[in-house]
Amino acid sequence: MLHLKKNYDDHVHGSKESNDTLSKFKMPENEMNPKEAYDAIHNELALDGNASLNLATFVQTWHEEEIHKLMDECIIKNMIDKDEYPQTAEIESRCVHILADLWHSPESSETIGTSTTGSSEAAMLGGLAMLWNWRAKMKAQNKPTIKPNMVTGAVQVCWEKFARYWDIELRQVPMKEDRYTMSPKDVLEYVDENTICVVATLGLTFTLEYEPVLEIAKALDTLQKNKNIDIPIHVDGASGAFLAPFIKEQKKLIWDFKIDRVKSINASGHKFGLAPVGVGWVVWRDKESLPEGLIFNVNYLGGNMPTFALNFSRPGGQIIAQYYNFIRLGVEGYTKIQNNSAEVGKWLSNELKKFGIFKIIYNGTGGIPGCTWTLTNNAKVNFDLYDLAKDLRSRGWLIPAYSLPENATDIVVQRILVKQNFTKDMASLLIEDMKRSIDNFSENQIGNDKKEKRSAFNHS
Ligand SMILES: Cc1ncc(COP(=O)(O)O)c(C=O)c1O
Repeated sequence: MLHLKKNYDDHVHGSKESNDTLSKFKMPENEMNPKEAYDAIHNELALDGNASLNLATFVQTWHEEEIHKLMDECIIKNMIDKDEYPQTAEIESRCVHILADLWHSPESSETIGTSTTGSSEAAMLGGLAMLWNWRAKMKAQNKPTIKPNMVTGAVQVCWEKFARYWDIELRQVPMKEDRYTMSPKDVLEYVDENTICVVATLGLTFTLEYEPVLEIAKALDTLQKNKNIDIPIHVDGASGAFLAPFIKEQKKLIWDFKIDRVKSINASGHKFGLAPVGVGWVVWRDKESLPEGLIFNVNYLGGNMPTFALNFSRPGGQIIAQYYNFIRLGVEGYTKIQNNSAEVGKWLSNELKKFGIFKIIYNGTGGIPGCTWTLTNNAKVNFDLYDLAKDLRSRGWLIPAYSLPENATDIVVQRILVKQNFTKDMASLLIEDMKRSIDNFSENQIGNDKKEKRSAFNHS
């Protein structure tokens, strides 16, 4: 019976340690039973929001069991050890070429690209290549290279970081009332011969809409013809590069390497690539678009290995999971999932319209699956979207309210990202909860004091 006694001793909630608080600012002197350490941290994590109700994030919040298994198998592998883990390196390379092919690179089996930790790192690499190519071009023409700039719409903060860290002037075309994407006309007003590239975003972080890559490219063609200024495009396809090839009404959209001017594309594997968080991709249209000087060759891992990334050590599991998705789902599987998500986005937008108080900014068509809305100017309500976000959070839904960037900061919106596990059934429950919240506000008059505050907003 000795083993029974041992079991009692082992009970995770019966020990002295389990009745103590965890050390927060100093490493504890003594070790702890792994079960208890696990249980303590596991309990603390319950204070996080529920990831599957997180409709704010672009990052996937659900994965097949097989992905969990592969991630576990790869936890001990550093993807940078390419000589030691040649199969992981091979799988990374396959992913690059699959993406190059999906995005119509003229040299898909030859071209170059790399995995990254996400789109932010991928954007830095894409931007750096643009900077180096511009410098080389200017030097060849005996022109100064001290004032590079780049032209973008309302980009994600990674591009602001890129511009600040590498000392490049960021010329961000401001949003306009009722037009949140950058137009070809805007672009021409902002570019000059010191423009290293134009970044067009396929899926704006703020509204989920796509920017018109082909039209921007055509405007730049005309500029080149008239003024002999040749400006390349980088497409930030963090979300859209994994959506446009699959969503019914987007398949005809021309946005990728089919356009000569598009020299590089980044995408987040962990967004609509459906891989677990921690993987992004950048791919160049051809080898010439990536300056050789940016590639380092290291030999201290065994073998001579080229590396072109900001990070060195990185987990290999996300890359393997990305490849798992490619072979597991194929075009057929991605098409089904992305179209389902797009349909839920449209359905939600229709339901929101029926409330009669919301102005739909993005209705789920033509961009990322989801929708974006604000309150109409004449909505007779005693709450604002910040109140609504807070009330929905009490049910577990994470749908924050936020203001749009420069030139549109007085517009407060809410936005939902529809990911694979946010089914129509869940969407219908959300709409029920929104109805309940809104009814509660009007019954309780709790937001009365907000009327004054709201009148300061311009929701148009
Ligand atoms: C358009 C766009 N670009 C870049 C990023 C940064 O991506 P990551 O989080 O993968 O670094 C995001 C993230 O939401 C984004 O929406």
